Amino acid sequence: MARLFQPLDLRGLTLKNRVVVSPMQTYSAPEGRATPWHQAHLARFALGGAGLVMAEATAVTPEGRSTALDLGLWEEAQARALEGLAEAVHACGAACGVQLQHAGRKAATSAPWEGFRPVADPAGAQVLGPTDAPADAGGHVPRAMGPSDMARIVEAYAAAARRADAAGVDLIEIHMAHGYLLHSFLSPLSNTRADAYGGAIEGRMRLPLDVAAAVRAAWPAHKPLACRISSVDGIGVGWSLEDSQVLVTALIAAGVDLVDCSSGGMILPRGDMMVPRGPGFQVPFASRLKRTTGACVIAVGGITQAAEAEAVLAREDADLVALGREMLADPNWALHAAATLVEDGGWAHWPKPFGWWLERRARAAHRDKA
Ligand SMILES: Cc1cc2nc3c(=O)[nH]c(=O)nc-3n(C[C@H](O)[C@H](O)[C@H](O)COP(=O)(O)O)c2cc1C
Repeated sequence: MARLFQPLDLRGLTLKNRVVVSPMQTYSAPEGRATPWHQAHLARFALGGAGLVMAEATAVTPEGRSTALDLGLWEEAQARALEGLAEAVHACGAACGVQLQHAGRKAATSAPWEGFRPVADPAGAQVLGPTDAPADAGGHVPRAMGPSDMARIVEAYAAAARRADAAGVDLIEIHMAHGYLLHSFLSPLSNTRADAYGGAIEGRMRLPLDVAAAVRAAWPAHKPLACRISSVDGIGVGWSLEDSQVLVTALIAAGVDLVDCSSGGMILPRGDMMVPRGPGFQVPFASRLKRTTGACVIAVGGITQAAEAEAVLAREDADLVALGREMLADPNWALHAAATLVEDGGWAHWPKPFGWWLERRARAAHRDKA
C-alpha cells in the first residue's frame, strides 16, 4: 500500500492519510472572521482527498496580524466563524488544523498583491519585536517587548487555543517560523536582548517555549499540537540546524507532537545566502530533525509530484508531506496522487457521490480503448 495513503495517529486524532495542505494566507477575512469563501476554499482540498487541511496563519491578537484581513482568534465572533470552517472541512472528509500566529515586527503590511508595504497598524497599536530593530530597511520600528507584553502574548495564545478547541478544530500549529514574532525571539539575527529572553539559545527559546507550554495546557490532552519552525535562517548564518535540534527536543518535552520543518523568513545580513528553493528543498531539514530528535515531522517545500512525496515517506525522511502552491494549482492533488500510487486507480479515495460516476466513465473509456 502506498505510504502516502496510510493513516497516522496523533494522540486521539487519526489522519486518514499523510497529505497535508500547508497553511496559506489568503488576506480575505474582514475583522479576522472566516467567511463562506474560506469554507469553500479549504473544503475543496478536503474533497480533493487531503488528510489534514491547515487553515492559514491566524492572529492571536489584533496587532499580531500581518495584514488587516488576516484571520484572527482573539474574540468569540471569530471562534464562531472558525467553527463553520472546521465543520465544512470535516463534512468534506479531512481533519482541520489552525495555525496560531503573531506577526511581530512583520505585522501591519499591505497584502502581497499591494506590495507587502508597511501600513499604519490596523489595531492602532505599535508593532512588537524582541528589540526596536525593524525586520528590514523601511520596515516598522517595533517596540521592544517588556514583561507585561510577554505575559499578554502567552495568554493570548492560550486563549486562542481554547477558542480553537471550542470551534471543533482538531490540531493546532504554533507558527515559530518565517521571521514572525516567535522566530524573531529564536534567531540571534533579530534577538539581541540582554535579559532572560535573549542571549544564549536558552534565553532566546524562553518565549516560544512559554507559548508552547501555555498552549499545551489550554489545549485538550487528546488533541495534537504542532509547531512550524524555520529549521535554518540561511546557509551558515543565524539560527542553525543544530539550534533546531535543541529547540525540537525542548518542544517535545513541552508536549509538542509534530514539527513542521520550514526555513528562512529572516532578512539576512548583506552577502549571506538563503536556502536555494529547488524541488524538496527543505526535506533534508525534516529528515535530519527526525533522525536526531525522534520527532514526528512534516516535510514541506517544493514537493509537487506524487512519486516524490511517496519517496520522502519511503526513505522515512518525514511522517507527513505538506504541499502549498501545488495544492492551489490542483486542489484534487491527493486524489490524483492516489490515481498513480494506489492499485485500481485509487477510486476508493474519491467522494462517493461523484467518484462512482467518474470511475464508471474511466472504466468505460478504458474498455473502449482495449
Ligand atoms: C500564498 C501563500 C501563503 C502562505 N501563507 C503561509 C501561512 O499562513 N503560514 C505559513 O507558515 N506559511 C505560509 N506559506 C508558506 C507555505 O505554507 C509553504 O510552506 C511554502 O509555500 C512552501 O511549500 P510549497 O513549495 O509546497 O508551496 C504561504 C505560501 C503561499 C504561497
